[in-house]
Amino acid sequence: MGGALDIGTVRSLKIDVLTETGWFDDACFRRDMTKYGGSAQSQYRIAWDAANAGGYAALLTITALDGGQSRILLDTGWNNAWMDHVFVRHGVDRMLERGEIDCMVLSHWHLDHFWGIESTLRHDRRLKIYAPSTWQEEDCALLREGADIQVRDEDGRAVSICRNSVPHQGELVLTETRGEDGSGIYRLQPGVALRMFDASMLLQVRGENVLYVNVADQGIVTVTGCGHPGIMTLLGFAKDRLAAPGLYGCYGGLHLSIFDTWKPEFDDIIESVKGLGLRRMGCNHCTGWMWAEKATTHGVPIIKGTDAYLSYPKISAQAKGSHAFLGNGDRVVF
Ligand SMILES: [Fe+2]
Ligand SMILES: [Fe+2]
Repeated sequence: MGGALDIGTVRSLKIDVLTETGWFDDACFRRDMTKYGGSAQSQYRIAWDAANAGGYAALLTITALDGGQSRILLDTGWNNAWMDHVFVRHGVDRMLERGEIDCMVLSHWHLDHFWGIESTLRHDRRLKIYAPSTWQEEDCALLREGADIQVRDEDGRAVSICRNSVPHQGELVLTETRGEDGSGIYRLQPGVALRMFDASMLLQVRGENVLYVNVADQGIVTVTGCGHPGIMTLLGFAKDRLAAPGLYGCYGGLHLSIFDTWKPEFDDIIESVKGLGLRRMGCNHCTGWMWAEKATTHGVPIIKGTDAYLSYPKISAQAKGSHAFLGNGDRVVF
């Protein structure tokens, strides 16, 4: 690691898995996509089955070198009823109301990370938000204008697919690849940086924010929503550009064997990740169970999950008792 960018350090980073189940049933999600135009269709033109919607969100608690704490909410899920439950369960509703969450980082505009925005804003409509500048008209309407977005289902009926009755009134930082000053990053606080990667993804969404946290004497922890730009690109940025003792760990979706299908390049990624020497990998969501299980057997230090997810009111059809990765309600400390 010989990067030019010194982002400072933190003492530790705690991550609570609020929810990592973007949706509950892969087959249902794929069916909806196929029915309304496929994965290249806009997410706002698909009459998604509301009962299948869950969401992705994580709470980052950062302890600074002087012992002070700060919190970042990463993403806000999809289904508002699910997110309301999740937030109450973890006390995020009260933290937002008391101003104990410093900001929300929206990783990207995908429905399972963004459409539950009302669940956050109803507790703090002035929350500072970082979101990719690559937003579209509907994203803007949902966040800032209080929209109820409807589409026609296959029977021609108008159905509401997402709504937000609490327009965001706080500071909005629309992130770009050049960063806040041409350096390629945004410095959120000492030891915490954000970078926007301009990548194209399914459902006509573009751009993803990734967080880098430099834990003193350990190294960089890379925190993602979905990791759409590619896990090696994201880890490579930390390795090449950030000044740190090494790559310590990661957390989040790594967008690999999503829908549990295997591609030959996933084997290569296992070997490449091993070569980077991360000591602890917390992954879930679109990483895919298959990749996590196989990577573990090949010696990648994937952090196991617990039974915590079983106490949530709904369980994903893909959930496995193998605890291959971190599930809902799990916690990891770096
Ligand atoms: Fe995504
Ligand atoms: Fe996702």
